[in-house]
Amino acid sequence: MTEPLGDEYDRPRPAKSGPVRVRVPAKINLYLQVGPLRPDGYHDLTTVYQAISIHDELTARPGDTLTLTMEGEGTGQLPLDETNLAIRAVRALAAFTGHPAHARLHLRKQIPIAGGLAGGSADAAAALVACDALWQTNLARDELADIASAIGSDVPFLVLGGTALGTGRGERVSPVLASAHTWHWVVAIADYGLSTPAVYAELDRLRDGAARTGAGWFADAGPPEALLAALRQRDPDVLAAALANDLQAAALSLRPVIGDTLDAGIEAGALAGFVSGSGPTCVFLASDVRHAAAISTALAESGTCHHVRTAAGPVAGARVA
Ligand code: C5P
Repeated sequence: MTEPLGDEYDRPRPAKSGPVRVRVPAKINLYLQVGPLRPDGYHDLTTVYQAISIHDELTARPGDTLTLTMEGEGTGQLPLDETNLAIRAVRALAAFTGHPAHARLHLRKQIPIAGGLAGGSADAAAALVACDALWQTNLARDELADIASAIGSDVPFLVLGGTALGTGRGERVSPVLASAHTWHWVVAIADYGLSTPAVYAELDRLRDGAARTGAGWFADAGPPEALLAALRQRDPDVLAAALANDLQAAALSLRPVIGDTLDAGIEAGALAGFVSGSGPTCVFLASDVRHAAAISTALAESGTCHHVRTAAGPVAGARVA
């Protein structure tokens, strides 16, 4: 279930020859504090990411041009053209290294699209690691992270994996080393997506409204220290009390039915439930594997989500398989 984290922070292994197969995890945010809107359209974040054991797989083969095909989650909905984050990542890697942007990419997706699990960013991270190995350009971790951050705020974390503190717009990541402990999650996936920019805009709107009317109900996440301390304690009950996401109120405002899923997970006995990133995926904390399985069964029977998965974290970031 959880792969070892021993080589978690090593550089990806270069390929001897193609094809190169890379596995990349989904992410959840155990903590997400959103600052005010910046002039560049982003928000300053303080977040704690965790990579969990739901994976996409990307295979890169030598080719004469750059092509992308896919199967699995989101097939037929996800564009496979130059707007796809995986293609954009390969173009950026080619521009940086001077290597021709030639590869045949194939994606096998399990991470839902527009779900708040960073599926698109994960595929970009996988494409970077795969083509760096296929082309034997062997970039340093910092160089890969720089290219990744230009593609999307979550992409550097998905190259790194594990559990990490994210700052800036989320692209500056540093490992939380005290978290070498496996946590058990239940992931409730919706049959619709939410647009990340729309959820951030809704948060700005709610905050503006609360400021104008003086409404005191709108509580933002406090500092992350409690969450980081809870990770060190390795006690799920302590972690349950420290999980926080400023975007949850905005996701709920746009899609109130998310509340039914959160309620169903708590009724099923989860220690805590929260919206992952910008949603609509809901994540529940379990005390162990068996507890996670029991919550998963009850949630699936509740009819409040499309499907349910159990997952463990932290796991490694994008790696050559
Ligand atoms: O960085 P990424 O392209 O994944 O971000 C998608 C969108 O999410 C941004 O265009 C912005 O609207 C919003 N966002 C934000 N603040 C962040 C990260 C993302 O407002 N820190």
